[in-house]
Amino acid sequence: MKEKIDKIFEDIKQLNAKDLNELEQIRIYYLGKKGVLNALFDEFKTLPPEEKKIYGKQLNDLKNQLQNFINTKKEELESKSQAPTSKIDFSRPAQLFHSSSLHPISIVRNRIINIFARIGYDVAEDIEIEDDWHNFTALNFPPDHPARDMQDTFFIEKNPDIVLRTHTSSVQIRLMEKEKPPIRYIFPGRVYRNEAISSRSHVFFHQIEGLYVDHNVSFADLKDTLEYFAQSLFDKDTKIRLRPSYFPFTEPSAEMDISCNLCGGRGCSFCKNTGWVEILGCGMVHPNVLKNCGIDSDEYTGFAFGLGIERITNLLFSVNDLRLFSENDIKFLHQFSVLD
Ligand code: PHE
Repeated sequence: MKEKIDKIFEDIKQLNAKDLNELEQIRIYYLGKKGVLNALFDEFKTLPPEEKKIYGKQLNDLKNQLQNFINTKKEELESKSQAPTSKIDFSRPAQLFHSSSLHPISIVRNRIINIFARIGYDVAEDIEIEDDWHNFTALNFPPDHPARDMQDTFFIEKNPDIVLRTHTSSVQIRLMEKEKPPIRYIFPGRVYRNEAISSRSHVFFHQIEGLYVDHNVSFADLKDTLEYFAQSLFDKDTKIRLRPSYFPFTEPSAEMDISCNLCGGRGCSFCKNTGWVEILGCGMVHPNVLKNCGIDSDEYTGFAFGLGIERITNLLFSVNDLRLFSENDIKFLHQFSVLD
């Protein structure tokens, strides 16, 4: 027994394996079920008690040393096999890649939708190629209104009754024709006007419009809603101001200014030193419009408001050339990737 144990202690000092396969052979030879160690343990059982005392500890030591050798060697071989064989330089700085981003118009549209979603407005969308009824007549435009003029409106050549919608107010009509009050929607969309393209005007742009029709909807509700909106989109200290205006489809009508968000109302070149900037048109839905959609104007009232998304984007992100929004210049668009 003694010689056998000593021999294995000697062997351990010389043990080596050049790969995992060889190591496994060694393990099986010494520690496997039918291995050398198990044979020794079998022999050990037959020894008289006084010898058991001596060899028990030695056998356990032997087993531990073998196990240690196998474990450390295994780790060493495994980490070697994972080491790179190619000549890739892992210390080289990574190449930057550009993540995609939402278009600034989409960013602002989503922000506005979310603000109104919080106070119960659903989102609606409708067609861009409209008929005269939904774009003008039902909205109480008189037949000779200048907006119908060829200069503002794109008419479809073969049928002057069909137009590219000039505003999202056409969706007011489509909603009120379809649904009974209470009606509460926000509707974003693209609109078209026959204008010369410059930094300040374009043949198409985006609007968001809101409509709320129910019992007892008042001008105070409109004002309250718009103040909530302005303070949510801009600063919580933003002030609003309503100036009388005219739209055929609202009565009374107003235009809303907000305190200039660039100078905080003190006056700057952006607000032309007035401290105020105009952001939307609004008013109480004209009774004729309700009637045109089959809604009893004695029972129901409503308000509507509409704004240009490009204008708001200009105010929020200082983009002051409308053409940038449709040129798809990656250098322009990429600046908004941190915002969406
Ligand atoms: N449709 C109007 C425009 O394009 C905006 C507006 C919408 C005004 C709703 C009042 C109510 O200028």
